[in-house]
Amino acid sequence: MEKLPRIIGLIIVLTIAIIIITTIKLKHKEAPEGEFKDMVGASYVGSFECKKCHERRYLEWTTTLHSKMMQDAKANPLVIIGDFDSPSKIRTFNKEDVDYTLGNQWKQQYLKKEGDDYVVLPAQYNIGAHEWEAYYPADKQKRLWFKECGGCHATGVDPGKKTFKEPGIGCEACHGPGSNHVRAIPGFEIATIINPVRLPALAAAQICGSCHTKGKDKSGEYAYPVGYMTTRGVANLYLYFDPVSPKNNPEMFWQSGDSKEYHQQYLDWQKSQHAKAGVTCTKCHTIHTGTTMFQTVMVGDALCKSCHTTTGYRGVHRIHTFGSCIDCHMARTVTSAVTGDLRSHTFKFASPELSIKMGGVEKQPNSCSGCHKHKDTPLTDLVGFIDAAKSADMPKPWSAHRREVSP
Ligand code: HEC
Ligand code: HEC
Ligand code: HEC
Ligand code: HEC
Ligand code: HEC
Ligand code: HEC
Ligand code: HEC
Ligand code: HEC
Repeated sequence: MEKLPRIIGLIIVLTIAIIIITTIKLKHKEAPEGEFKDMVGASYVGSFECKKCHERRYLEWTTTLHSKMMQDAKANPLVIIGDFDSPSKIRTFNKEDVDYTLGNQWKQQYLKKEGDDYVVLPAQYNIGAHEWEAYYPADKQKRLWFKECGGCHATGVDPGKKTFKEPGIGCEACHGPGSNHVRAIPGFEIATIINPVRLPALAAAQICGSCHTKGKDKSGEYAYPVGYMTTRGVANLYLYFDPVSPKNNPEMFWQSGDSKEYHQQYLDWQKSQHAKAGVTCTKCHTIHTGTTMFQTVMVGDALCKSCHTTTGYRGVHRIHTFGSCIDCHMARTVTSAVTGDLRSHTFKFASPELSIKMGGVEKQPNSCSGCHKHKDTPLTDLVGFIDAAKSADMPKPWSAHRREVSP
């Protein structure tokens, strides 16, 4: 009889022990499985992994063209914009040949898998003009995606192994490989991922500059900086890349130094007063949201006037009754699909004087002729107006057009 309390006591002790042990075990299981404190050895996981914890950023990013640059046409044939129904002499392939699309805005090009590589098919669709244009002659060397395009249109590209993690400009194209970050020890989230805002401004701009540029990687084989974003921290783009320049590649620039060809925004910008003053890409462009045309922080003159509060309506700025800053300071020098569909990022005023010197607007575009292109507005008159306006001694009445003005 007197053993009973002891047995009860033993049972109570055992139960408590079991409860304690299982709680500890359960707690251990529930603990975050964080393993990493830094970015060493990180690999690419894809943007969808980031959605788990950064859902708003993710959903916003899906509204940008970055997210849609390269799309799987087999998974979703609706991403094909080109007209494959009407007959065309220029288009030598069919919808069924298309594995991926490239681009949405100015032109669309098409990729077909061949062996372990992708071939860029030989015609592009110019979206605004609704027409096909030959991209390269069919008898010429095929253009291979991993060699000539890959790293700028997809994320986690390994041209050696001919693999990529994700089509399009995913989160990790700008933030670096994220496998360590998604399994960071709590408190080490910041140490496990690149946040451009924590880099010096000009180093952060290089991240954008790794694609919005043109040139060759250090091996001379690839058209993009292979290996650039896979390293930790403030990598110097120029250890990976040799960009084109007006000196070595005069066919890609105008005499004025402004770009002739597309995806050279970084090269233009580097020459600008903005670069010198630390006005980087992200001062004017939103990053994760695509709600405005060209992802600008503000629309129209408001963007420029948000900083240039003292630009008065004096001198040349007095010629017009409207502002239209970019028409003079971002002249249409660049071509993506059709002549002059894009603008220069040097922010320099392109004077008609240089057009005269170079032998016409076709040889050197300028800031005024974009609008004053009628044959009755000679370039010499435009130069005259600028000089008159600059000397603040504007003859009145005056006109850009040669019409008789009664005294
Ligand atoms: C398991 C949840 C989780 C996942 C998945 C995740 N993150 Fe994070 N991330 C965090 C937390 C927590 C922070 C810290 C927030 C803070 O301190 O304000 C953070 C911060 C960041 C920061 C800011 C770092 C800084 O220096 O301020 C960036 C950039 C970032 N994450 C990018 C990514 C990317 C890219 C991915 C996908 C590869 C991703 N995250 C996936 C939880 C996550
Ligand atoms: C085109 C480059 C680019 C892409 C793509 C991109 N980011 Fe960012 N991200 C940046 C830059 C630059 C910053 C620094 C913010 C700034 O300058 O204001 C940033 C900042 C962040 C931050 C820090 C919080 C903040 O807003 O300052 C988080 C979190 C983040 N990004 C998550 C993501 C996720 C998730 C994705 C994918 C869905 C993504 N980013 C895609 C460039 C990019
Ligand atoms: C150094 C990076 C880089 C390389 C290499 C590159 N591109 Fe691009 N590409 C860009 C950037 C940046 C843009 C967008 C900016 C612009 O339009 O100026 C772009 C835009 C495009 C567009 C137009 C997108 C649209 O919406 O209109 C197409 C199509 C395209 N590229 C195809 C190609 C093909 C095909 C190759 C290879 C033969 C290639 N690119 C090589 C960076 C690159
Ligand atoms: C001072 C403001 C400013 C800065 C700095 C700036 N941009 Fe822009 N960018 C603009 C404006 C404004 C447009 C829209 C032009 C239009 O409406 O046609 C634009 C257009 C673009 C476009 C669309 C295609 C094109 O070329 O017109 C791309 C891509 C682009 N910028 C990339 C960049 C990159 C990359 C950087 C940094 C190297 C940068 N921008 C710096 C103001 C800026
Ligand atoms: C991995 C390459 C890559 C990186 C890094 C990159 N971009 Fe882009 N960007 C592109 C490509 C390719 C396009 C063309 C997308 C299209 O037209 O479908 C583009 C388009 C744009 C556009 C035009 C959007 C529009 O609506 O017309 C802007 C603005 C831009 N990028 C700014 C930036 C800025 C700012 C950064 C740095 C924070 C950056 N990009 C980093 C490749 C890149
Ligand atoms: C974030 C602020 C900011 C924005 C936005 C901005 N700028 Fe600037 N800009 C500057 C700074 C700073 C300088 C350096 C010279 C100075 O202090 O005036 C500069 C210089 C310039 C210059 C050269 C001035 C000179 O003395 O040669 C021009 C032209 C110019 N900006 C035009 C523009 C245009 C056009 C826009 C709109 C597309 C714009 N800026 C948007 C800050 C800005
Ligand atoms: C009709 C063409 C034209 C328009 C429109 C125009 N500019 Fe200018 N801007 C010029 C010329 C020409 C200069 C003199 C610089 C030169 O000769 O290189 C100049 C000079 C500047 C300068 C440097 C000198 C100064 O006055 O501070 C800034 C900054 C500037 N413009 C900003 C702007 C802004 C902001 C807008 C829009 C509100 C604008 N411009 C609209 C033609 C124009
Ligand atoms: C965005 C288009 C655009 C650009 C760029 C442009 N103009 Fe004009 N220009 C106009 C329009 C529209 C008018 C008539 C309405 C007005 O004056 O506001 C005009 C009027 C004029 C006039 C007549 C003014 C008057 O009082 O009768 C002169 C002179 C002139 N422009 C010279 C120039 C010069 C020089 C440049 C280059 C520095 C230039 N424009 C750039 C569109 C433009």
